Amino acid sequence: MKVTAVILAAGQGTRMKSDLPKVLHAVCGQPMVYYAIQDVKAVSTETPVVVVGHRAEAVCEFLGETARCIVQGPQLGTGHAVQQAEVTLKGKTDLVLVTYADMPLLSAETLNRLTETQCANPGPVTMLTVSADAPRGFGRVVRGADGRVQAIVEEAVATPEQLKIKELNVGAYCFSANWLWEALHRLPLSKKGEYYLTDTVAMAVEAGLPVQAIVTDDPVETIGINTRVHLAEAETAMRQRINAAHMLAGVTMIDPQTTYVEAGVTIGRDTVLWPNCYLQGGTCIGENCEIGPNCIIRDTVIGNDCLVLASVLEGALLEDDVDIGPFTHLRKGAHLCKGVHMGNFGEVKESTLGPGTKIGHFSYIGNATIGPNVNIGAGTITCNYDGVRKNPTEIGEDVFIGSDTMLVAPVKLGARSRTGAGAVVTKDVPPDTLAVGMPARAIRKLEKEEKEK
Ligand code: UD1
Ligand code: CA
Repeated sequence: MKVTAVILAAGQGTRMKSDLPKVLHAVCGQPMVYYAIQDVKAVSTETPVVVVGHRAEAVCEFLGETARCIVQGPQLGTGHAVQQAEVTLKGKTDLVLVTYADMPLLSAETLNRLTETQCANPGPVTMLTVSADAPRGFGRVVRGADGRVQAIVEEAVATPEQLKIKELNVGAYCFSANWLWEALHRLPLSKKGEYYLTDTVAMAVEAGLPVQAIVTDDPVETIGINTRVHLAEAETAMRQRINAAHMLAGVTMIDPQTTYVEAGVTIGRDTVLWPNCYLQGGTCIGENCEIGPNCIIRDTVIGNDCLVLASVLEGALLEDDVDIGPFTHLRKGAHLCKGVHMGNFGEVKESTLGPGTKIGHFSYIGNATIGPNVNIGAGTITCNYDGVRKNPTEIGEDVFIGSDTMLVAPVKLGARSRTGAGAVVTKDVPPDTLAVGMPARAIRKLEKEEKEK
C-alpha cells in the first residue's frame, strides 16, 4: 500500500516564547523538523508533505527539496492542518501517516509498526499511545469496558476522571486516506475554536469502525517539545541516542555525559573522545584518533591516527597522522597534510601546510601555501592583510623560518631557504639562501651542512 506522510509544522509554538518558529529550534544541531523528515523516510518513499504556517518561508527554505510544503493560514488546529493536504494527496495515496514536527525522538521502528498495523486494520485509523505518569499536557486515551479505544480527550476539555488516565496520545497516526479526507470535513469545532485531528478517533468509533492503538513502552520517544524545558529534555535524550550509536559502532567515549556530537557527524572505529568535546555540523573523524579533552570541532574533516588536544577547529581538513594542540585554532580552509605537527597558540586560515611541516609555538598563518617539511619558528606571522586585500605567502619545501619572522605578503621563500630570528621579510628569498634583518636582506648562499641542520 502506498503511504504518504503529512507532518504538521504550522503552529507558532507560543509556549517557546521565541521569534524562531518552533520546528526550527535545534536539537543536537539540527532543527527538530529535520528529524521528523528522517523518521518518515523509513516508512514512505513518497516525498512527505509538511504543513507550514507560522514563518512558513523560513521553514520551507530549510526543507528545500526534502519535502512538499503546504501553507496553512490561519492555523485552526491539527485537524484543519491535515485537511490542507487533501487537495494535493486525494486519490494519490492509500494511507496517510500523520506526525507532528515537534516530536524529534519518535523512532522509525515505531512508525513502521504503526503503518503495518494499519495495513492489517479493517478500520480507518491506527494511533500511537504511551503509558506515563507525567501527562505533560497530552491528550488522554479513553478506552471502553472492552478495552477498545473510544476517544482521545484533550487535556483542556477532560473531566477530572479522564485527567487521571495514564495512557496518553503520542501524536502519530496512520489513516486510511479515503476515510480521512471525508472525516476531516465533519470535524466539530472545539471550545478553543480549533478543529482537533484527535476527534477523528471518536468519529470512527461512532461509525462502528475499529480503531487500533499500538503502545510504545519507551517514554523517551514521545517527548514532544512545547517549551524550552522540553527542548532541553529532547536534547539530552537525543545526545544519549547519538552517543550510544557511536559507541556501539566502535567509538570510545570517556564520559558520554559531556560529549556533544551533533546528528550527522561521523566517527571512525577506535577513535577515543575525551570529555568536553563538541563535534558539530558536517564533521567527519577517521579511525584511531584521540580527540580532546576540550575541543570544539565544526565542519571539519579529520583523517586516521590524529591527535587533537584542547583546540578549536572550524572548516578545516586534517590528513592522517596530524598532531595538534593544545590551543590550536584552525579556521576555514586550513589544510594540514599528513604528519603535520602544530603546538600551542597556532592559528591557521586558508592555508595548506605540506606533509611533515611543524609549527611548534604561537604563530599565525593565513593565505599561505607551505611545502613539505617546513619548520615554522616560534612567533612567525604571515602579514597577509595590507588593509585592503589578503595577500599570499608561498614557502617551498624544507624551509626553516627563524623565530619571530614577519612574512610581509605577497612574498615567496624558495626551497631550503632560511630566515634569521626577527627577520622582517618584504622581498622574495631565493632558494638555498639565508635572509636576516629588518627589512630582511639575503646575505649569502647556505653551506651544505647548514641546510642539513
Ligand atoms: C497534540 C495533540 C495531543 C497530543 C499531543 C502530543 C491535538 C488536538 N492534540 O497536542 O492529543 O497528546 O499533541 O504531542 O492534536 N499544528 C499545525 N497547525 C495547527 C495546530 C498545530 O500545524 O493549526 C502543528 C504544530 O506545529 C505541532 C503539532 O501540530 O507541530 C501539534 O500541535 P500542538 O499545538 O503542539 O499540539 P499539542 O497541544 O501538543
Ligand atoms: Ca505539541
